[in-house]
Amino acid sequence: MSLVITVARVEDVTALIQSAASLFQEDGGQRDPFMDANWPTRNGLDYYLGMITSARSLALLARRDSTEGTVVGHLTGQMRAPNELRPNAVVAELVSMRVTEEQRGHGVGAKLVEHFFSWAKEQGANQATVSAYASNTDAVCFYQGRGFQPELIGLKIDLSSLDQQA
Ligand SMILES: CC(C)(COP(=O)(O)OP(=O)(O)OC[C@H]1O[C@@H](n2cnc3c(N)ncnc32)[C@H](O)[C@@H]1OP(=O)(O)O)[C@@H](O)C(=O)NCCC(=O)NCCS
Repeated sequence: MSLVITVARVEDVTALIQSAASLFQEDGGQRDPFMDANWPTRNGLDYYLGMITSARSLALLARRDSTEGTVVGHLTGQMRAPNELRPNAVVAELVSMRVTEEQRGHGVGAKLVEHFFSWAKEQGANQATVSAYASNTDAVCFYQGRGFQPELIGLKIDLSSLDQQA
């Protein structure tokens, strides 16, 4: 398969939402009992149109063979607002990405991240960040292979578990 990475256009918003919806279903929807896995299809239109049209956001689609080919993956990113606690940091956030199951392991994800890094540098970023569920070890390995290193660890407790202990 030849692979083409395109910047999503307004007319691509449905394809972007479909890929994001599949990510919610297989990732957050499986790992977080409070996640509304149907959010992208129900309420995501304005959000994903914003990712496409904002100068400080990035929406990429990976397509098979040509700029009009079947979508096999997506990546969204955005520049973070300045943070006065870290005045010299200019941070680009990789917000979400997914590759269709049948295309995984063929370099699609790596190409998407390469494009994200180029865009981040064009935006003047000097850091890039991404979050992943700790249980998504595949994604964590993938990101580490692209040079990301763990920094903060988020910890959570389901408070109803305290009632069960009592
Ligand atoms: C994570 C994901 C985007 C990777 O995309 P991909 O197209 O399969 O990745 P690539 O084929 O480009 O792999 C690039 C490198 O990462 C490595 N890699 C990919 N998946 C891996 C895994 N599960 N475990 C370890 N390494 C992995 C590959 O071996 C390859 O290594 P190399 O550069 O040394 O050759 C894809 O698996 C995916 O969509 N997963 C489900 C959705 C998801 O979890 N998204 C991230 C949410 S935070």
